[in-house]
Formats: sequence, structure tokens, C-alpha cells
Amino acid sequence: MEPVKVGLLGLGTVGGGTVNVLQRNAEEISRRAGRGIIVSHASARDINKPRICKTDGIQLTENPLDVVTDPEISIVVELIGGDTLARELVLKAIANGKHVVTANKALIAKHGNEIFSAAQKQGVMVAFEAAVAGGIPIIKAIREGLAGNQIEWLAGIINGTGNFILTEMRDKQRDFDSVLAEAQRLGYAEADPTFDVEGIDAAHKLTILASIAFGIPLQFEKVYTEGISKITGEDVDYASELGFTIKHLGLSRRTDKGVELRVHPTLIPKRRLIANVDGVMNAVLVKGDAVGPTLYYGAGAGAEPTASAVVGDIVDVVRVLTSDPENRVPHLAFQPESLSDLPILPIDEVETAYYLRISASDETGVLANITTILADNGISIDSMLQKEHASDKATIIIITHTTIEKNMNEAIAKINALEAVNNDVVRIRLEHLDAD
Ligand code: HSE
Repeated sequence: MEPVKVGLLGLGTVGGGTVNVLQRNAEEISRRAGRGIIVSHASARDINKPRICKTDGIQLTENPLDVVTDPEISIVVELIGGDTLARELVLKAIANGKHVVTANKALIAKHGNEIFSAAQKQGVMVAFEAAVAGGIPIIKAIREGLAGNQIEWLAGIINGTGNFILTEMRDKQRDFDSVLAEAQRLGYAEADPTFDVEGIDAAHKLTILASIAFGIPLQFEKVYTEGISKITGEDVDYASELGFTIKHLGLSRRTDKGVELRVHPTLIPKRRLIANVDGVMNAVLVKGDAVGPTLYYGAGAGAEPTASAVVGDIVDVVRVLTSDPENRVPHLAFQPESLSDLPILPIDEVETAYYLRISASDETGVLANITTILADNGISIDSMLQKEHASDKATIIIITHTTIEKNMNEAIAKINALEAVNNDVVRIRLEHLDAD
């Protein structure tokens, strides 16, 4: 049988990695797919730039439309990133009857509903494993492996750059900017690194995970997003003293009132496996009602780990090229007419535990005032630590039991207003991530 011809949009880190993996593992891949797979056409902004891959036998162009309209090509692989030109090209490829594989999380999180609906009408597949957690096959695991479960919640370290920064700051006392520069050099960081640091990249990925876990439309604009740029060494050390590690988590939980969708720094117990996921590695913890907690771990960024997911998707598409579109795995795991309109909870309604750091004058009654405010707002204290700094200054660390965020906001406003409290209370959310 003739090999399947693939067109690449983008020949950068992931594009180059994809060519290398397809060439190096060609024989194994064709044994798996049932046909050979070759890249026959590729677009790049500058076709004369040095590449990490060989491009012999690949027709190169600087006009991505040449690839999208090439009649020889069955699968278009979109690796240019961004969500303007990429959206246009993907929709054109679909309109031309081509299957699409993409690593573009922003595109899927923001325009996936439109793209999947167009793909469904055309009877083509849009595969996006590489959009979430790089090389970890988490989309396949949730969409297929866990299809018998009601997913209760998921929590993930889904931005390698952020995790790399937090790990280096904790272990080597390195400063934020130098670690970020290294992540950029290694090709982990987004074109705009604030996407990594401020949690936007993680929010894109969480949007996708929540959608396939709970059967809800993609709703990127409803994710509560908080970055890691305000995390200090002091909080990392106090958290550690109390048995916790600070990780930047994406969390989604189905509750009776709706679905939580949030990205923020989070204290998690050091004894959890996921707390030990360091550097650029990613991990996603998924709790299903039948299976219990499951953990998926691997490289979340980089040329070949991401190419591993891209090539896995290409093989998936090749395997079903001749199948009836009705019998394929639905894009968002649930049949499109069965997506639910569960509300997304505003952050005020979210229930979680907290770490509070309070700088106060060391005076009689200060602690009593603080604990009274917490009690008046229905907040129960789990543990506490007090550190003397000067003879008249103290830092009080409080870990609370779970409460509703709006109760905590009210309590913090009252604590900040106490005369003896010197700076605004530092609040970091805390999750136990236990099996219940
Ligand atoms: N910037 C992303 C990260 C790349 O650091 O995880 C993979 O999506």
C-alpha cells in the first residue's frame, strides 16, 4: 500500500522532532499503523534556517497554504502555535477534507468547539494529544482508558517551565529570571514566557482536560488563573517545615454545584507521589469512581517527547483512515450531542484549604483576634506555627481545614484590618489530593 503523506506546518522544535522520530522509527511505526508514513511537504517561516532534522525528500515552502491545499496530503500536522493563523489553517485543512494533528493547546482551548464541529461535519479527525502534558498520553488515558468511570477530579503539574522554575528555586536557591532564561534556551518555554509563569499555558491545558473528563464544552475564559511569580523562598521553606511542597497545579473537580476549573500555586503533602515531580516533568492525577486515583508522569515539553505524542496521533489517524466517522472516538470523549451544560464555579464558590502567612506585632491578644476572625467566618484551623523575628515581631503560619473561598476572603480582609497586622496576609491554597 502507498505510504500516507503528511504535511507539516512548522519545522521548529516540535516539527523537527516529529520528522526525526518518523524517520528514525519508520519501520516500527509502519508495523503499527499498517502503512508507511512520510512527511512529503512542510512549511516554515524561513526555509533556509538550520534545522534539527534532515529535510531531504520534503518539499519545503514558506507559504503554509501550499501544504493545506496539497491534494497528495491526507494529514496536516499543525505545529506553528498561536491561535490566529493556526485557526485559519486548521479550518482550511478541514474544509479541504484533511485530518489534522495539532500540538496547539491555545488553539484547542479557545477554538476547539468550532474546530471539532467543522471536523465532524467533514468527517475528519482532529487529534491533539501533544497539546496537554507533552509526551504523556493523558488524552488517550482519560478519553479511552477511563471511559467506564465517572471522573471525580483531576489535578496536574501541566507546565514544565513553571515546574522547572519552582524546583530550581527550591533546590538551588537560583533566581527566577536565570531559571526562566535556561528554560527558554532549552526550548521548553512558550513564545511569550508569561504564558508559562502566569498560568495561561496551564489554563489552556486544564480547559482541555476538564472537557474530556466531564463531557463539558471547552470554556477557557472561565478558568481561574493565578501564576507563580509571587511565590517567595520564605513560603517554600515554611510549607516544607509543615510537610508540604508548593506546586503550580491545574485542578478540576466535579461538585454538586458545578465544575471547579482553577490554576494556582498549591501546597500539597510531600508524601504524595505528585509532590515529587520535579524539573520539566509533568504529571496528572486523575480520580475515577471505579479505578480510584491514577497518576500519569512524563516529560511535558521538549522536541522528542512532544513529537512522541504527535506521532502517536498520526498513527491513530492512519489506523482509522477508512473507518466510518460515526464509529471513531469522539473528539471530546463524549458524543457531541451528549455534552453537558454543568456550570463552572466562580472561584468564590470553590472549596479548598489554605496556608496563611501573617506578619504581626508580637502583642497580647493578636493570635486570639486572628483565630476569632477565622472562627466567626466558619473556618477551622488544622495546624499553626509561630516564628519570632525581632523581640516585637512574629510570623504566624496557619493551615486551615477546607472552607469556601468567599469565607476566606472575608476573614482575610478583617485580619488585614487589624492594627497589629503589618503586611497583607499571604494566602496559598492547599489540597490534600487524597483518595477520597
Ligand atoms: N511551555 C510549555 C511548558 C511547553 O513549559 O510546559 C509544553 O506545552
